[in-house]
Amino acid sequence: MLVQEVVRHLVHLPQGVYVDGTAGAGGHSVAISRSLAGRGRLICLDRDPDAVSLVRKRLPVSSDTICVIQANFADLDRVINDLGISKVEGVLLDLGMSSYQLEESGRGFSFSRGEPLDMRMNPDNALTASHFVNDLSPKELEEILRSYGEERRAKSIVRTIVSARAKRPIETSSQLAALINSISPKSRRYRARHPATQTFQALRIAVNKELQNLDTFLKKIPSLMVIGGRLVVLSYHSLEDRRVKQAMVEWEKACTCPPDFPHCVCGKTPLFRRLFKKGLKPSQDEIERNPRARSAVMRAAERV
Ligand SMILES: C[S@@+](CC[C@H](N)C(=O)[O-])C[C@H]1O[C@@H](n2cnc3c(N)ncnc32)[C@H](O)[C@@H]1O
Repeated sequence: MLVQEVVRHLVHLPQGVYVDGTAGAGGHSVAISRSLAGRGRLICLDRDPDAVSLVRKRLPVSSDTICVIQANFADLDRVINDLGISKVEGVLLDLGMSSYQLEESGRGFSFSRGEPLDMRMNPDNALTASHFVNDLSPKELEEILRSYGEERRAKSIVRTIVSARAKRPIETSSQLAALINSISPKSRRYRARHPATQTFQALRIAVNKELQNLDTFLKKIPSLMVIGGRLVVLSYHSLEDRRVKQAMVEWEKACTCPPDFPHCVCGKTPLFRRLFKKGLKPSQDEIERNPRARSAVMRAAERV
């Protein structure tokens, strides 16, 4: 998604307080800080300490206008409270993993590298992908591949993993990818999408509790934004996008009493108004420049 388009939907009051909840390599943070031009305040969060160091180098950090904090966006209430802020004018989430994590972190996010099966965005968290692959019961592992990877071949992938790990633990990302590749039909092996894509997605989501964090954030965010504040979310797969869309549709609803009630008893009023009903997708031009953007969907809503 074009960074300028994200910023255009997010920044409506340059004097306001804005949060980039997933600072990553700082691309969006830099663009937001430019559009605030020193007038507002920007709080950048990432759970990955490497991202925090990177963004601190890219941005002119100062306690008054820009701060970069290692934190989970699910804890946004606590983070802004610690800074003496009760509500903010805008929050951006650009979900999933960063190019740095995939290509340079050495933590086994990519199936094309022989790295330890780690996949933790925050290396202080206890459980690695290796634990999920080598220690879970076949039933638990299959459930993860099905629910977080929507992998239809979960059963046979798990059977292969279980028989391999009985001989010796599966230690690297390339070992796991090769196992999955070895049991996929020839027709799938040469497609643009590697046969291990969904398994890797499922493990990453499970290791980092990505959907639980998103759900917690979505529950908290209405009470953390000023009226007129903007929430912009970029998702990269349907499990995330469905949650964001459902939350926005639910927030938009006023009274939910049955139509035959003479008057409202639920007292529900809308919390957000969607800025556009359908999720926005990147243009063909942008996908050509940045192929990883092909699955991105942007949704934005205004607090009412
Ligand atoms: C797609 S990247 C963001 C890229 C960023 N917008 C940029 O312009 O460079 C996603 C980032 O979100 C971080 N992240 C994912 N889940 C998070 C969470 N629950 N709390 C904080 N950061 C999270 C990841 O560590 C990763 O660095």
